[in-house]
Amino acid sequence: MEQDFLPINGTDYVEFYVGNAKQSTLYYQHCFGYELIAYAGPETGVKGKASYVLKQDKIRLVLTSSLDPNSEISEHVKKHGDGVKVLALWVDDATRSYNETTVRGAESAIPPQTLKDEFGEVVVASIKTYGETIHTFVERKNYKGPFLPGYKAVKSSLKVEPIGLKYIDHCVGNVELGQMNKWVKFYEDVMGFKLLITFDDKDISTEYSALMSKVVSNGNGYIKFPINEPAKGKKKSQIEEYLDFYHSAGVQHIAIATDDIVYTVSQLRKRGVEFLYVPDSYYEDVLDRVGKINEDLQELKEQNILIDRDEEGYLLQIFTKPVQDRPTLFFEIIERNGAKSFGKGNFKALFESIEREQELRGNL
Ligand code: FE2
Repeated sequence: MEQDFLPINGTDYVEFYVGNAKQSTLYYQHCFGYELIAYAGPETGVKGKASYVLKQDKIRLVLTSSLDPNSEISEHVKKHGDGVKVLALWVDDATRSYNETTVRGAESAIPPQTLKDEFGEVVVASIKTYGETIHTFVERKNYKGPFLPGYKAVKSSLKVEPIGLKYIDHCVGNVELGQMNKWVKFYEDVMGFKLLITFDDKDISTEYSALMSKVVSNGNGYIKFPINEPAKGKKKSQIEEYLDFYHSAGVQHIAIATDDIVYTVSQLRKRGVEFLYVPDSYYEDVLDRVGKINEDLQELKEQNILIDRDEEGYLLQIFTKPVQDRPTLFFEIIERNGAKSFGKGNFKALFESIEREQELRGNL
């Protein structure tokens, strides 16, 4: 087997650029049960921005706002609204990761640099991907601090219970019409990923709107990036709506794994998170399609959780509505029972649900 030139241990963190990180932090604490663990800003010697680090099990989110109207962060928020800037990848050698990818054609975003504080040192380096999104390689084997040098450990006075969110299962990008294959090739050639699955517009279309999708994955399978592009339908594709409002390619959704989706989703609902809705009729014949499952169908129906099966097992999934006013980023909650796929059997029901929302927004 050929040597993996870009070994990745997992997702290190996802950083969002947002209009008001202080308030967004409370949203993710209260609604999703994340714990606030670290902060960087003027009080810790960082000028011009504030960043809050949230953690639940293996997931780390960073929420960053600018204090300066002319910064790159402010420009990003003005153009895209709240959205994902960084999909950070945990590696053993950040400099080598940067060199191996840039030599294969990756555009540099930030060359390797060593960050230090009293807890040790971290090497970070970033390359560009679709839209204005970047991948940051994080090498933290010589670091014992709460997050990265410059961040101080903090505790919130808001006491929240975790709700069973475990790790990031996959992160999905939306790219412009005709650009999907270019970005699949980028992940193959520049990052050594392999094409896992292809969905064409026959798999993913309703009466009105369509999209195409290909999933790429790294060597150990810990990193999975589906890439979507709009396809021609009778009306506007949900991917086109995203691109219209994000004003470029960008991250469409982040799927988070749980071991107990009924509990996780019931907690999210209790705390005010809104989900896409599928009609009760979905549950009338779903077991004919997916066969025997361990969960109580009535409980899944009450939480409006979707079910799908592939050759290796089944999965349970649900999608939030967009988590900001623009119809851009949303989250998926997923529980895998052997299945390694992405819920193809639910695409039709889901896209009809998304179209109902698009229609309400006047964007169909
Ligand atoms: Fe997904």
